[in-house]
Amino acid sequence: MTRVMRIVRTVREVRDAVRDARGAGKTIGFVPTMGALHEGHVSLLRRARADCEYVVISVFVNPTQFNDSADLAAYPRDEAADAAIAGDAGVDLFFAPDAEMYPSGFATSVTVDGLSAPMEGAARGPGHFRGVATVVTKLFNIVAPDVAYFGQKDAQQALIVRRLARDLDLPLRVEVCPTVREPDGLAMSSRNVRLGPADRVRALALRRGLDAAEASVAVGERDAATVARAGREAMRAHGVEPEYFELVSADTLEPLDVVSGEVLVAVAARVGPVRLIDNVLISSHAR
Ligand code: PAJ
Repeated sequence: MTRVMRIVRTVREVRDAVRDARGAGKTIGFVPTMGALHEGHVSLLRRARADCEYVVISVFVNPTQFNDSADLAAYPRDEAADAAIAGDAGVDLFFAPDAEMYPSGFATSVTVDGLSAPMEGAARGPGHFRGVATVVTKLFNIVAPDVAYFGQKDAQQALIVRRLARDLDLPLRVEVCPTVREPDGLAMSSRNVRLGPADRVRALALRRGLDAAEASVAVGERDAATVARAGREAMRAHGVEPEYFELVSADTLEPLDVVSGEVLVAVAARVGPVRLIDNVLISSHAR
């Protein structure tokens, strides 16, 4: 079946299109993004395409979640390329909002306490996840999807979105999909295009650190600080100083002393001009 993707820019157009699709009995799948689409985003779109009869993508570089104005200014933008990728992935509706997301006098925000505090929240400041939670809530209200898809790559963000959907009784399901990596293990990210050749090699340090932590647990280490130290040392051996390298509960993000149950190993580091994050989930039992 050939589909024609529609590109729309206003809330009104999204609501009308989704109402028509729902009226035709279709389930609505939604993938929010900031564009610069890569295979990670495409994996979410394919999953939405497989699960749902009508697929909506939003492409909006949300200024309120950037703590660093240079990062916002340098964020890659290429709407024509994004539209081609989304069209190939079978998207029905491409929402690239114009200026109306934050009308003058905008004063409301959504804050998810607790989960927003550690790791990315500590590193990027309280505005980051407030910006994410607020724009995601707005987008959910605009699109009104049945299912929304997020990547495990941004594990803390995915947990926060799940929590806000539950706490605010939003009538949708949140699905979290696996991290898509380059063949050498680097997690795909829109920011990777800003890595020069030498930094592209150094960026593998994040994956190497996570591998070292996993290997340490695999041979029986259960002291979280020792596992984290193994991860940090592997990163330094690869020429990168971690900003944080943490073992936390995969559900609550509380720091762990002992590796037990579902553990999220999360890392952030600056590599040349770019700040990168990555994580793995480890299932383990205390011995
Ligand atoms: P963005 O960074 O564009 O990511 C959009 C979605 O793609 C997120 O759910 C993210 O986790 C997922 N994603 C990114 N890289 C991935 C990878 N390598 N594998 C799997 N999934 C990946 O995250 C945002 O935008 C914004 O914060 C947003 C939620 C759109 C709110 O502005």
